[in-house]
Formats: sequence, C-alpha cells, structure tokens
Amino acid sequence: MQNLRVELGERSYTISIEAGILGRTGEIISDLTPARQVLLVSNPTVFPLYGDKVISSLHKAGFEVEVALMPDGEVYKNMEEALKVLDKAVDFNLERTGIIAALGGGVVGDLAGLVAAVYQRGINFVQIPTTLLSQVDSSVGGKVAVNHPRGKNLIGAFHQPLAVIIDPLTLHTLSEREYKSGLGEVVKYGLIYDESFFAFLENNASAVKERRGEIIAELIYRSCRIKSMIVEKDEKEQGIRALLNLGHTFGHALEKITDYKAYSHGEAVAMGTVAASLLARERGYITEEVFKRILNLYRILDIYKEFPPFDPEVVYAAMLNDKKVMYGKMRLILPAGIGQAVIADDVEKEEIIRAIRRAQNLAID
Ligand SMILES: NC(=O)c1ccc[n+]([C@@H]2O[C@H](COP(=O)([O-])OP(=O)(O)OC[C@H]3O[C@@H](n4cnc5c(N)ncnc54)[C@H](O)[C@@H]3O)[C@@H](O)[C@H]2O)c1
Ligand SMILES: [Zn+2]
Repeated sequence: MQNLRVELGERSYTISIEAGILGRTGEIISDLTPARQVLLVSNPTVFPLYGDKVISSLHKAGFEVEVALMPDGEVYKNMEEALKVLDKAVDFNLERTGIIAALGGGVVGDLAGLVAAVYQRGINFVQIPTTLLSQVDSSVGGKVAVNHPRGKNLIGAFHQPLAVIIDPLTLHTLSEREYKSGLGEVVKYGLIYDESFFAFLENNASAVKERRGEIIAELIYRSCRIKSMIVEKDEKEQGIRALLNLGHTFGHALEKITDYKAYSHGEAVAMGTVAASLLARERGYITEEVFKRILNLYRILDIYKEFPPFDPEVVYAAMLNDKKVMYGKMRLILPAGIGQAVIADDVEKEEIIRAIRRAQNLAID
C-alpha cells in the first residue's frame, strides 16, 4: 500500500492507494474517528459495481450505513440533487460527528463534498474516487461544488476530506473515454511540475494504456503527490495552484462550443495544452524540441485529437467567458519547459488566434 500525507495543518489527511483497498474502507475510517454513522453517496452506475464491498466493510467495522444515490451525469451536479442528499442526511439523523462518503467519480465527489461542507456547518467527508480523473485530481485538494444553471462549479466551498481511499482496481470497469480523460490531467502534472514523471509516462506508455496494475498504482501515487504538493503550497488558489489550469482555458472553450459532447475533459485539456504550448513556443518559452515531446506524449497515449476547425474568433470568445479572465485580461498558463510552467497575464488576442490557427494546422505525422 502507498500512503501519502497531505500536510495542511489541522486539516491534514492521508491518501491511501492500494489494489483491493475498498474492502478495508471501514477499518480505515474507524481508525480516524469515533463516528458510527456513514451516509454513502454514489450513483446507479458505480454503486452496483462497488457498493457491496464498501458497505460490508463499513458494517464489519460497526458503522450504521445509509445510501443516497444521485443520478449519473454532470447535469445532476446541481443544488436540487444536493438538497435531496441533505434530506437523506436529515432523515438518517446523521450526527455532527457522522461521515459523508463519496463513492464514484468527480461528480459524486464534488456534490457529496459540498453537502458535507454545509450539513451542520460541515462534517467529516471521505472520498472513495473510482475514475482516474477523480483519483488523481478532483478528490485531492478540498474543492467541492455543484453547478449553477449559468456556470460550472459556481456554488462551492473548500472542504478537505478526512481521508481519500483509492482502489486502482476500480479502473478496470471504466470506459476508455473516461480513462483517457484522466490521463489528460496526468500528463499535465508531469508537464507543469515534474520532468521525471513526464519521462516515466513516455517510457511506460503502453503499460499505461493497458492499465497495468503496478504502473497505474505508481501513476496515481505520483500524480496525487504532485497535486498535493501544489495544494500544500497554495490551498486557496492564490498563486501556484493556478498552474493546474494549464490547457484549461482553451479546453473549456472547446468543451463549451461543442456542448460538452464531442470531447472528454481530458481530451479538451490535451488540445488546449497543445495550443498553449504553441503560444509558449512562439514566445520562446519552450523550444521546438520540447513542443514535439509534448505533442508526441499525447499521441503515444492516444489522447490527442486534432484541434477542431472552429473559427478562432469563436474559440477566443468562448475563452473570454472563462472565470480565469481577470479584469478583462487573458491570464493563461504556459509551459516553460518539461516540468515547468508560468502564469502569463499579458497574453494578447492576436497571439491566441495565431496559436489556435497553428494547432489547427498541425499535420498528422
Ligand atoms: N474538485 C476538484 O478539484 C475537481 C477537479 C477536476 C474535476 N472536477 C469535477 O469532476 C467532475 C468530473 O469527474 P469525472 O471525470 O470523474 O466524471 P464522472 O464523475 O461523471 O464519472 C464519469 C463516468 O464514469 C462512471 N464511473 C465512475 N467510476 C466508474 C467505474 N469505476 N467503472 C465504471 N464507470 C464508472 C460515472 O458513473 C460516470 O458515468 C466534473 O464535475 C468536474 O467539475 C473537480
Ligand atoms: Zn481538468
């Protein structure tokens, strides 16, 4: 088993990563708290796969368990569904010392976490993420939220978990699309923070694609380590945490234009990172060689799709709506080498338009 401690003073917690660890959920939680009640939040896709294992482990450890299932999908990450889970918590007489646990991907984790942040002014929360994206990204860092009809994650909080329990075996039932979505974020970590991790991905690309056990556990561990180091330095996103947005302003624009249907989040981030890298290359922040290395890793992992031929003006307009735009100036994260990135808050519209054109013109070779 690999344990990773996230040091945030009295909000510190441990991420435990191990094949088969779901069967030890109860034991892990009872070591951390005298609580006796768990409200387990999941959805009808994940619960039939892993619910029994988690519940029997919780029962074995003496917990009283109630289940709240929310429908599957990003569109249900909203206040209405959060209120239903809150109703469940009230009906269950969930005490202030009780636990809300999230079993599922980032949607379940974000919603359950928000409920845990507000129920009785905040109760303990346990993340049991089951998608690659949630294991390497959304379950670490304490951001919880639901969407508002007019914007993603507009209703949220910072609420650090009591524990994060990651079972890499859950990835075997995950679709190819969702798996690759997580890989998009994994590449990002290497690119912004850790050249040796980037090289690890280059050297193990086929094992990564085949989801081979030890490689995946290592990949999750190293990704969580990078994310948690960044979160430790900047819990509330006032500085370095912004680097995690590499590729996201372009990526969110592509997701929005295609109504979140054409690409997984990771694919959109990959295309966005390629565009950001082209802009960085033009500014002289990275060499042609580094650019090729970035593009090549996306290609060998099979997560890069050709940048769609939308009018660059339309993409730019969608980027302006992103919440990273500050006082009208476009703020972009740009790579500055493998393992390094910078925040650029002086990016001109023309540079963005040129980067989009270049991304669209990249030959498939
Ligand atoms: N809080 C954060 O810091 C943070 C960071 C990144 C993303 N997010 C949020 O995360 C969400 C996306 O999360 P996601 O990519 O995990 O999507 P998701 O939660 O929608 O899961 C994707 C799909 O996979 C299914 N699934 C989950 N685990 C499975 C398994 N083991 N086997 C088979 N199917 C499984 C889900 O039911 C769903 O249909 C977004 O709402 C995003 O805003 C939050
Ligand atoms: Zn992302």
